[in-house]
Amino acid sequence: MDIIKTVQEMVQRSAEWRKNGKTLGLVPTMGYLHEGHLALVRQARAENDIVIVSIFVNPLQFNQQEDLTRYPRNVERDLAMLEAEYVNLVFNPGVEEMYPAGFSAAVEVSGLTEMLEGAARHGHFRGVTTVVTKLFNIINPQVAYFGQKDAQQVAVIRKMVRDLNFPLKITVCPTRREPDGLAMSSRNVYLNPEERAAATVLYRALSAAKTAWESGEREGARLRNVMEQTLAIEPRAQADYVSAAQPDTLQEYLGTIEAGQGVLLSLAVRFGPTRLIDNFLLKA
Ligand code: PAJ
Repeated sequence: MDIIKTVQEMVQRSAEWRKNGKTLGLVPTMGYLHEGHLALVRQARAENDIVIVSIFVNPLQFNQQEDLTRYPRNVERDLAMLEAEYVNLVFNPGVEEMYPAGFSAAVEVSGLTEMLEGAARHGHFRGVTTVVTKLFNIINPQVAYFGQKDAQQVAVIRKMVRDLNFPLKITVCPTRREPDGLAMSSRNVYLNPEERAAATVLYRALSAAKTAWESGEREGARLRNVMEQTLAIEPRAQADYVSAAQPDTLQEYLGTIEAGQGVLLSLAVRFGPTRLIDNFLLKA
C-alpha cells in the first residue's frame, strides 16, 4: 500500500492508472477509522481495480477551533486497518499541502446547505464541498463512496456533482451501527460510559418514528413529535434539532406527507460537549 502526501505525486499516480484503463474508487475520510468507514472501503474494493482512501482532517469544515484540535487522530492505526483491506493507496496530505498560503477559492452549494447541519454549523458544508472538489480534481476517480450516516452531506455532494458536471459517480453505503443501534462515528470516543449508554436514544427516537410511519402516520409534525418525546425521556440528551423532511430537497414536511413520498428522519443531539447525528431514510 502506497502512502502519498503531495498533490503532485497523487495527480501523477492517478493519471498513470487512468491511462492504463484502471477504474479508481475513492473513499474520502478524516481518519480515526471504524467499521463504518471500512464498509465503504470494502464496497470500493469489490467494485474497482484501484482503491484510494484519503485521510485529511479538513480544517475548513470545522467552525470551532476547539472541535478541530480535539478531533481524534491515529494515522498509524488507520494505515494498518486499510492495509488489511487491500487498499492500493492512501492520500494523506498536510494542511499546507491542501491549503497553501494564499489559498482563497471555495465551492458552495446554496439552498440544501442552509438547514439542519448547515444551520447548526455555519460554513461547514462550504468546507466539505471545497475539500471534496479538491480531492475529486486531484485523484480523478470514476466512483466516490459516501456514507448514509451523513445524509445531508450526501444530498449536498450529489447536488454539487450534478450542478457542476463532475465526471464521476457517487455511491452511498448504508449506516453501520453498534449492536445497540448507535451509529458508528469517530466522535463516539468522546462519550463517557453514562453518555455512551444514553446515546442509544438517537436510534430509539428514530425507531419510534419509523414504527409510527409504518403504522401509517403521515403528519410531519407528529413524526417529529414522536422523536422529541423519546429524546425528552433521556436527561443526558439535549436535542439540537429533530427533522422529518423531503429526502432530496430536505424541506421540512409541515403538513400531511403525500402518498408516494418518502421521508428523511434526522436528528442532532448533544451529550455534554459532544454532538451526535443520525438518520433513517424511509421509503414511501
Ligand atoms: P468522516 O466523518 O471521516 O466520514 C468519512 C465517510 O464515512 C463519510 O462518507 C461518512 O458518511 C462515512 N461514515 C461515517 N460513519 C459511518 C457509518 N457509521 N456508517 C457508514 N458510513 C459512515 O464525512 C467526512 O469524514 C468528511 O466530511 C469528508 C467527506 C471526508 C470531507 O472532509
